[in-house]
Amino acid sequence: MPFIIWNKEYSVGIKSMDEQHYKLVDLANNLYEAIKSGRKNEALIETFKGLVEYVQVHFNAEEKLMEDNDYPFNQLLKHKQEHRDLIKKIKELFEKAKAGSATVNLEMLNFLRDWIMIHIAESDKKYGPFLNSKGVS
Ligand SMILES: [Fe+2]
Ligand SMILES: [Fe+2]
Repeated sequence: MPFIIWNKEYSVGIKSMDEQHYKLVDLANNLYEAIKSGRKNEALIETFKGLVEYVQVHFNAEEKLMEDNDYPFNQLLKHKQEHRDLIKKIKELFEKAKAGSATVNLEMLNFLRDWIMIHIAESDKKYGPFLNSKGVS
């Protein structure tokens, strides 16, 4: 059974963003499988790296979509700040794992999942209706 099961509750109502979120879930699930199957730390760090990089790609794309569609400035700032906080936390974990002072394990993955999924469910969902009203779907 996958670590995170995608369900329509996670949909933000924007196809491109749903696809990117789905890919994030997929990458987290791959990392879960790699941990569970006892892959070496080096391999785990490589897989983790892919996730960190894709989180950054996604945040950039999401912010651009909001900017291009004149998302209300205060909400945009707040959202960008959340992204910055999240990426900082994720990168800190990644750097610790790389330096050997933290292990890529299920506990770490649980944290990652919670941060990412709460952000999608609570913050990303807010831009859906706004962007829909601008003709983005
Ligand atoms: Fe997102
Ligand atoms: Fe976001």
